Formats: sequence, C-alpha cells, structure tokens
Amino acid sequence: MKNGRYFVGVVGTGGIGRYHIEGWRKLEDVCVYGIADPDTHNLEKTKKDYDIQIAVKDYKNLIKIEEIDIIDVCTPNYFHYPVTIAALKSGKHVLCEKPLATKSIHIEKMIEAAKQNKRKLMAAQNQRFSYAGKKTKEIIDRDELGEIYFAQCYAVRRRELPARDTFIKKELSGGGPMFDIGVHILDIVYWFMGCPKVHSVKGVMFTKLAKNKGVTGTWGRWDPEKYEVEDFAAGFVLFKDKRALHLTCSFLSNLPSNFSANLYGTKAGMIWPEMKMFSELNGMHRDSTLTPIVPENEPSHHIEIREFLECVKTGKDVVVKPEESLEVIRMLEAMYISDEKKREVVF
Ligand SMILES: NC(=O)c1ccc[n+]([C@@H]2O[C@H](COP(=O)([O-])OP(=O)(O)OC[C@H]3O[C@@H](n4cnc5c(N)ncnc54)[C@H](O)[C@@H]3O)[C@@H](O)[C@H]2O)c1
Repeated sequence: MKNGRYFVGVVGTGGIGRYHIEGWRKLEDVCVYGIADPDTHNLEKTKKDYDIQIAVKDYKNLIKIEEIDIIDVCTPNYFHYPVTIAALKSGKHVLCEKPLATKSIHIEKMIEAAKQNKRKLMAAQNQRFSYAGKKTKEIIDRDELGEIYFAQCYAVRRRELPARDTFIKKELSGGGPMFDIGVHILDIVYWFMGCPKVHSVKGVMFTKLAKNKGVTGTWGRWDPEKYEVEDFAAGFVLFKDKRALHLTCSFLSNLPSNFSANLYGTKAGMIWPEMKMFSELNGMHRDSTLTPIVPENEPSHHIEIREFLECVKTGKDVVVKPEESLEVIRMLEAMYISDEKKREVVF
C-alpha cells in the first residue's frame, strides 16, 4: 500500500487476466502495480495496453514486491495452488480464478496458509456476483422458494471448446467441462442450497466428439490427438440431509447450449438465471418472470473484484468462502474417481 492506494499484482495476463485488470482499474484507490507471465507476448502487450509499471516473467519476483497488497491469480488452473500459497506466505491477500485448485488437498493447504497469515482468500466465482445470482440468493434467504430439495444443473456448450492448452491439457486444467464450467453452476447452486454436507457422488465422463477430426468448434481448432480431457460429463450428488442435485457439462454437445439450473423448491420452483418462478395460488398455477427495474450493467467479474477489495479493507468475510470452494472441488474430484472406478464415492 502506498499513498492510500492498494497495490495489486496480477499473475497471468491471458483472457481473464486482462479482464480483471480492467476491473481493478475502475477502482480509484487501487493501482495495478505489476504483472507476471512467462509468455512474453502477453506480458509485454498487457504492460503496454494498461501502462503497468512492473512486468516480470516469474511470478515469484512479483510476489516479492513489498508494496503489493493483493495478488490476483489468473493463470491456468494448475498454477493456482503454488502461486496462491507463495502469495499468502508473503502476506498478500489472494483473489484466485476458478476452480480454486485442481486438487482438494491443495485447497486445504491454501486455507491453512490464509489462516496462518491472516489474509483473505477467495475463488473468483463470478456467477455469485451476477445480478441474477445475488437477487436469487436474497429471494432464497427470504424463504420464497421454501426448501430446495433438488436441482438440475447445466453447463452445456454446443460447439464452444476453448482450444487452448489451459483448458485441454489435463495437467493444466484438472479436467474438461466438469472442471471448467461445471464449477460455475455447481458452485452457485450449492450456495443457493445452503452448502449442505455431501453424502455421495456418482459421475460419468465421455470424450466422444473432441477426438473426432470431423467436429468443428466456434472457438478455434484443437488437435484431437492432443486433447486430454473429457468433452462431456454428468454427475449426481446426494447430500447428507437427503437433498440432491444433478449436473450435466459439455464443451461440444449435439444439443443447444444451456447454462442454467432448475431449482425445485417446496414453495416455488425457479429456472435460473432466467428468473422464472412457478408456484400455486388458491388452486391455480402461478407463473412469473422477475425482471430488474433498474438494470445492472456492471460485469459480475468487476463487482466481484470491488467486493473482494471491500473485504480486504474492512476485514469482513468474503462471499465465496474457501471452505465452500473446497467442498465444490471435493465433489468434482469425486466425479472423476467415480467414473474411473464405476461406482459411487461415499464421503
Ligand atoms: N470466471 C470466468 O468467467 C473465467 C473465464 C475464463 C477463464 N477463467 C479462469 O481463468 C484462468 C485463466 O484462463 P484464461 O482464459 O485467461 O487462460 P489463457 O490461456 O488465456 O491465459 C492464461 C495466461 O496465464 C499465463 N501463465 C501460464 N503459466 C503461468 C505462470 N506460471 N505464471 C504466470 N502466468 C502464467 C499464460 O502464459 C497465459 O498468458 C483459468 O483458471 C480459467 O479457469 C475464468
């Protein structure tokens, strides 16, 4: 911190790193002081485009800088763990892209490091900061849906495979659509359901389309021979209180894209994020669609950044508690184990 401004270092200057920098730059009391990326092209371009003072190839040299208060981790998933641990141990607060890590054991260590160093740690689950995400959580907290006893969760893309190593190399990503986009819908629905304890998980994975040379993606080409993750995944989670959810994820389905959840509540059901509600009134169906009176145009990623800074300043709890991210990653991890062993994984 210098002259009343919080200093931020961004590690990883690809697609989302640049988007985060734009979010930080909106805040008057923030200076994006430095960036780190081994890719010289991304590093130099980002330094120039956003007029950033320090640009280094090795993130360790960024973390060393004393003035920096917050490290924002925007690297491929695999690096979330080592970068976050190093940053927390150097006394920095950490905002880290989703998924918080590729292994639950890593998240346990990240939580421990945050506690020991008394620093904030939050996974950038931006859906929780979206207008539909925030409003739905408030509606649920007011008990308008009653008990949500079941949810169908979809993170399905028809022909949208991110054709970069970050997403298709197993070591870097941790997994395919289940890890990359399943984590978004699972995280928010788990939060809507009040983060219940998990009883068991069953999952299945397929790579039926991405290995086929005749399949086209709208987000660029990939080499089918180098494609290492699933392109479709589905799973079922049973909670200890006997509620449950079902999850379907895809990068390349032969069905329309669909990022949504059907929430089955005892008082009302909801299709999210369309905000369609279904219930009964006086013996009649009552269907409604909620629409914002004052539209919210700020991107959820930028709201997330602003609110994270507020927690750093005030000491209040972050919205995406790392313990909740740990449980989400444990569920995802169990989906892969279940697929491999062809059986349910009991927690
Ligand atoms: N919340 C969202 O909506 C959202 C959207 C896209 C990506 N993401 C997440 O953001 C992360 C990055 O995704 P992306 O789309 O920006 O990927 P990307 O491939 O566009 O960029 C990743 C960048 O990280 C750099 N990098 C690799 N190893 C590094 C290291 N050790 N230190 C510093 N930099 C390193 C790469 O050179 C590259 O510039 C992933 O975890 C992804 O899941 C989140």
